[in-house]
Amino acid sequence: MSDKILEIKHLKKYFALKNRLVVKAVDDVSLELNRGETLGLVGESGSGKSTIAYVLVGMYEATEGEILYKGGDLAKAGLYRTLKQKGEIQIVFQDPGSSLNPKRTIRKSLMVPLQVHDRGLSKPQMDARVEELLEAVGLPVEFADKYPRAMGGGERQLISVARALATHPSLVILDEPTSALDVSIQAKVISKLVTLQKELMLSYLFITHDLSLMRNVADRVAILYLGRLCEQAPTADFFEKPLHPYTRMLLSSIPVATSEEEELKPAKIISTGEIPSPVNVPPGCAFHQRCKDMLPVCSAERPVMREVSPGHQVCCHLYNAN
Ligand SMILES: Nc1ncnc2c1ncn2[C@@H]1O[C@H](COP(=O)(O)OP(=O)(O)OP(=O)(O)O)[C@@H](O)[C@H]1O
Ligand SMILES: [Mg+2]
Repeated sequence: MSDKILEIKHLKKYFALKNRLVVKAVDDVSLELNRGETLGLVGESGSGKSTIAYVLVGMYEATEGEILYKGGDLAKAGLYRTLKQKGEIQIVFQDPGSSLNPKRTIRKSLMVPLQVHDRGLSKPQMDARVEELLEAVGLPVEFADKYPRAMGGGERQLISVARALATHPSLVILDEPTSALDVSIQAKVISKLVTLQKELMLSYLFITHDLSLMRNVADRVAILYLGRLCEQAPTADFFEKPLHPYTRMLLSSIPVATSEEEELKPAKIISTGEIPSPVNVPPGCAFHQRCKDMLPVCSAERPVMREVSPGHQVCCHLYNAN
């Protein structure tokens, strides 16, 4: 059996705007996810992270490309996936406040996916499953009869995780699951996510704009800029030898705690220029106008992704030496 659970090939998601303009939110992204691993997908606001997530769970139709999952192409199925396919890929959204219905008790919210995906369950069986889900995320079973407003942000987010687990998924997309939470609570939610992953053999696509968070959580990291991937590498390799000028810029602005980390950090690179609009992506490399290492070719030709060491890929003309 292949180690790969998901293979995204040349995925594009374009949005047509009224005035005949097109937003290239995701533009030729290829990614792979292995069973039981965490891939950190990192990018600034507007880089297309959520759009990738929404296409993967079937909320948006892909414009082009393939999403290979367990032998089938989900991109071909578009929005018409089987119930089983829908259950197997789940998502946890950024804001636990708005993703839970405030008028429903936690029990009712957790029962919704059970009613859809596990139709044969009796009422007592559903209650038992609700309790099991609460226990899985480390919350007391009494929480079943609470309303979301009576809980803290971290607890609400753990409920969202429980709801995602209700359908026995194999792949969970975490779309900035802790960025709305206080730092102390963030750590608690992350540690629960890590435990659950091991217990349930889950694969995670962990979306974040917080690169430093990925150091301890991700097996591999992929960097997205204006809908395109810049670099992809195993986490340790990534932090030790960042290659893409954009990655180096991002890493140089992360605060570090120890002198060892300070030594590894690239020299401070001052970010220049604005992030262009995805309606008007510059020709060639999307980053060239902000890049301090720009070559003449960078404004003319779009670079291709190359593997420079095992598992370490970079999409940059600087590494195009033959
Ligand atoms: N339904 C839509 N119609 C038109 N444009 C959209 C739509 N959804 C997203 N976009 C645009 O696509 C680009 C990528 O958006 P997306 O929400 O995927 O970014 P993101 O990386 O998740 O950002 P954030 O960190 O702010 O959540 C943005 O320019 C956004 O304005
Ligand atoms: Mg987003």
